[in-house]
Amino acid sequence: MRSRLILLILLASLATLPAHATPSPSPAPSRAAEAEIATKVSALMARMTLAEKIGQLNFPSLAFPYEDQLATVRQGRIGNMLNVVNPVHLRAFQDAARASRLKIPLLLAIDAIHAFHITFPTPIAWAATWRPQLAQDAAEMIARQTAQNGINLTFAPMIDISRDPRWGRVIEGAGEDPFLGSAFAAARVRGYRKGGLATAAKHFVGYGAPEGGRDYNGAQISLSELFDRYIPPFEAAIDAGTETVMASFNTVNGVPVTANRALITDILKERLGFEGIVMSDFAAIYELINHGVAGDLAEAARKALNAGIDLDMTSKAYERHLESAARAGEVPAAEIDAAVRRVLTVKYRMGLFPDSPGGVRKIPSPVSEASVRATARAVARESFVLLKNDGATLPITPQSGTVALIGAAALATSDHSWYGPAGLKKPETESLRDALESRIGTTQDLLFAEGFADPCGLSFKDKAGALAAARAANLVVLVVAEDCIISGEAASRADLGLTGVQGEMLDALAEVGKPIVLVVETGRPLALTEAVEKVAAVMVAWHPGTEGRTALAEVLTGEVAPSGKLPMTFPRSVGQVPISYGDLPTSRPATGDRYTTGYVDEKPTPLYPFGHGLSYTTFAYSDLKTSVPTMARNGRIEIRVDVTNTGTRAGHEVVQLYTRQLVAARSRPLRELKGFEKVALKPGQRRTVRFTLAAADLAYHDDEGRPVIEPGTFDVFVGGSSTADLEGSFEVTED
Ligand code: GLC
Repeated sequence: MRSRLILLILLASLATLPAHATPSPSPAPSRAAEAEIATKVSALMARMTLAEKIGQLNFPSLAFPYEDQLATVRQGRIGNMLNVVNPVHLRAFQDAARASRLKIPLLLAIDAIHAFHITFPTPIAWAATWRPQLAQDAAEMIARQTAQNGINLTFAPMIDISRDPRWGRVIEGAGEDPFLGSAFAAARVRGYRKGGLATAAKHFVGYGAPEGGRDYNGAQISLSELFDRYIPPFEAAIDAGTETVMASFNTVNGVPVTANRALITDILKERLGFEGIVMSDFAAIYELINHGVAGDLAEAARKALNAGIDLDMTSKAYERHLESAARAGEVPAAEIDAAVRRVLTVKYRMGLFPDSPGGVRKIPSPVSEASVRATARAVARESFVLLKNDGATLPITPQSGTVALIGAAALATSDHSWYGPAGLKKPETESLRDALESRIGTTQDLLFAEGFADPCGLSFKDKAGALAAARAANLVVLVVAEDCIISGEAASRADLGLTGVQGEMLDALAEVGKPIVLVVETGRPLALTEAVEKVAAVMVAWHPGTEGRTALAEVLTGEVAPSGKLPMTFPRSVGQVPISYGDLPTSRPATGDRYTTGYVDEKPTPLYPFGHGLSYTTFAYSDLKTSVPTMARNGRIEIRVDVTNTGTRAGHEVVQLYTRQLVAARSRPLRELKGFEKVALKPGQRRTVRFTLAAADLAYHDDEGRPVIEPGTFDVFVGGSSTADLEGSFEVTED
């Protein structure tokens, strides 16, 4: 029952809580420093040969034996390297640059995304905390560990919005919503940079919308949707100071981004004002041949440069063909110079030159492993999402009786640290079994059965033993996992169910008749409809990392209450994707009835909606009020709500604010997230949470991608998920 409130006009109190979560721009280099950098870059370019200029656009990956690459660096024909991790190798490349004629420092980059030594939870888990500050802290810790080696750039954050969990790379991002995604994009850029690494906001643009959810596939996206959904996180990353942007592999409306001047130059560089470096993705310039837009590598080089791609990651297209193309007048020297200017300007801004006007780059002091672990533990604790908890089955207490922990994943200590640099010693970590044993082993029996021959349940191991353990227990905890190798890049799935024999094991355990807690380690939303019907509780653990299973035991036993919320919708079935809370109403909005949008063989609603997540306590919302009933198109409004902990335990709640524009020139989403704040509440505690909305925050984009603030009525919804039903409204007037 939607409780529609009579709006009262209240003076906005002077002391308001933080406004909604938009990124605050980081301090740009001073105007004087910028002018000095420009002068130095011009002076340096005046001394450079064409070959040396093209060298600055060359971005190969370490290839053993690397002596040839060292020689090429000394000749000034390589200006940037990726995947050099070993400190000895890094030193060798930096020395080679210093031995070159112009001594231009190298960009030295790796994918330090969620792991360097200690593996953090995967980035989708960071988003599930709904605490951007935690993501910033995590990024900073990872950067501080990485920068110690001499690496100065990370290929992160990945900020692709996606509504399609078939696409494996949702593991790297912040889910389906541009507002949440923008907050985490900015936080991660701030964190990596604070930790001593320059960043690469990736992958510009629309990579998360591949047709069929198939990685590398094309996307059809209107300019309106591009600006409403996919570009906002890049604006936030640019505001936060990202030094580079990585172009994406995919086509948008049939044109590969890597050869797409309209997207890279007209929009990213000119309209969004991005002045940093745009790099291709790995071999993406070469892959313009596969796309069928270049007949050979020379044509690919010309098209990429013309599009505005400054750095050629590993294709050797620029190295092999730009010099001859320039001498033949096939590419304007000005295009090469523009790219070189960007690269050198960023290197000066990063403080890589000894005479950098903004100061020489300082590598932050080493960070103790204990503090890195503490941050990783904090992220994991707040990332777990309790989807279901019938009969308060969780937390496990002495009253839970004998517990049967089942699943080889409960023994696992390997982390999902793809891209984690090879060769570093594996950090000590604790399995879920050991973590649980140390917490409940003295108060109740903890039985254990692997059940599966591997952590991802691809085949049984002693199924009978698992069933026997269940029979002997009062409570079953079954740990299932989506295999690490089937999430991430090049890991799109056509089926979102449990892999291997995990579903079969669950069916057999359900037959035993004891209450089941299902713990799901996954890199993406899964279609768990049948599974959740058979269990009393479901906890999504994502891929929790080095400290993650200890944190999971803390949450399962109630030491810490779960507080995660879904950053991405969990569908009932794969047939529903792409699926999002913010769909358009359509001509016949979904009601489940015939002749309304939906399916004849599936409900139109998701299994669990965006923003959903339970605690071990309960919360109530009341007194939704707006500071004024109307605001002009240049105005602002404060929206306040009271939230109360109505349970018996302390907990955190993510208060979420959604709006809906009822009538506009375009059909507008049923709901749009416009604010969120995570609050801690003791039992019985009531707190007023305030959001500030500017009319500009309600803009949508027209067919040319221009922002439009259209007067009209807006509904407001506030609550603990995207299905919030405490409702109000306000008007935006002409002026
Ligand atoms: C990969 C990925 C990109 C990564 C790059 C360098 O193909 O698409 O995200 O940063 O190559 O490893």
